[in-house]
Amino acid sequence: MRSSIITSALLLFGGAVQAGQSSNKKTGHPIDASILAHTGQPVGKEIKIGSNLTVYISAPSPKNPRAKSRAGTAILLLTDVFGLDLVQNKLLVDSFARAGYLTVAPDLFDGSPAPEDINTPSNPNFNVGEFLARHTPQVTDPIISSAVTYLRSSLNTSRIAAAGYCFGGRYVFRAINPSSVLGGADVAFAAHPSLLTDAEISGIVGPVAVAAADADSMLTPAQRANLEGLLLAKAQPYQVTTYGQTPHGFAVRANYSVPSQRLGKEEAFLQAVRWFDRFL
Ligand SMILES: *[C@@H]1O[C@H](CO)[C@@H](O)[C@H](O)[C@H]1NC(C)=O
Ligand SMILES: *[C@@H]1O[C@H](CO)[C@@H](O)[C@H](O)[C@H]1NC(C)=O
Ligand SMILES: *[C@@H]1O[C@H](CO)[C@@H](O)[C@H](O)[C@H]1NC(C)=O
Repeated sequence: MRSSIITSALLLFGGAVQAGQSSNKKTGHPIDASILAHTGQPVGKEIKIGSNLTVYISAPSPKNPRAKSRAGTAILLLTDVFGLDLVQNKLLVDSFARAGYLTVAPDLFDGSPAPEDINTPSNPNFNVGEFLARHTPQVTDPIISSAVTYLRSSLNTSRIAAAGYCFGGRYVFRAINPSSVLGGADVAFAAHPSLLTDAEISGIVGPVAVAAADADSMLTPAQRANLEGLLLAKAQPYQVTTYGQTPHGFAVRANYSVPSQRLGKEEAFLQAVRWFDRFL
């Protein structure tokens, strides 16, 4: 009973905010970049699901006026190669939770993420080819599938937004394709995706937004144009936004002393949230 009173109060509050600030009930309560944490302590938690998959999960505060209208939805965050060891990845999960979305990031690398970027490795002891050979779609798809099943079955999620960064960016395209083994996502956002194939791009069946770096050897201007052309050919809402003076990885590991990178990370985060507000 107590919870239903709180729920009604939140609905009223949320309703008032929405009526005052937006005619779109689904979007409601606008956010700004102040909810994006770039440094600090993560506030979510790591839990084990199934037999041996770890996920990092962060839930919105029940007092968050945006959370109410997002009941039954969740964000599946697919990280870069640094995985759950990189604090910025956990902070992104927390930031999406502050935007009102229950957010879950599976450990895509079974406890052993990459110590170096696959785009610009500097340590000769890190063998990029060997790392990627161990983390093929054949290995990664089942991990993501387990996380999707957990969201749908254990957390009662009916609609899933996939947000992917670098390595994980490719997998949001695989997740929004019902003929792939994943087929779990209804909406997708990818920041500086790497290793994306034409078939993966053309396989999408829902809205996809992309945040691209202008200096990215894994998504060059020619590859961006190709990506846009393939998305244009699909009858789906899409966005491809290029952020100027940003390197590969900026939406996660921006250098905050460089204004273009800081702005890029903030804008890419807001791009994702607004995309999900509209389509999830
Ligand atoms: C789980 O255990 C199996 C068998 O030991 C292993 O192959 C796999 O890499 C582990 N991790 C995940 C995330 O499934
Ligand atoms: C999911 O739904 C089941 C059945 O209605 C319920 O028992 C369970 O508590 C729900 N779990 C969550 C996390 O809401
Ligand atoms: C961040 O940018 C500043 C200003 O260009 C530079 O001095 C610093 O080395 C950069 N930090 C990293 C970690 O790249």
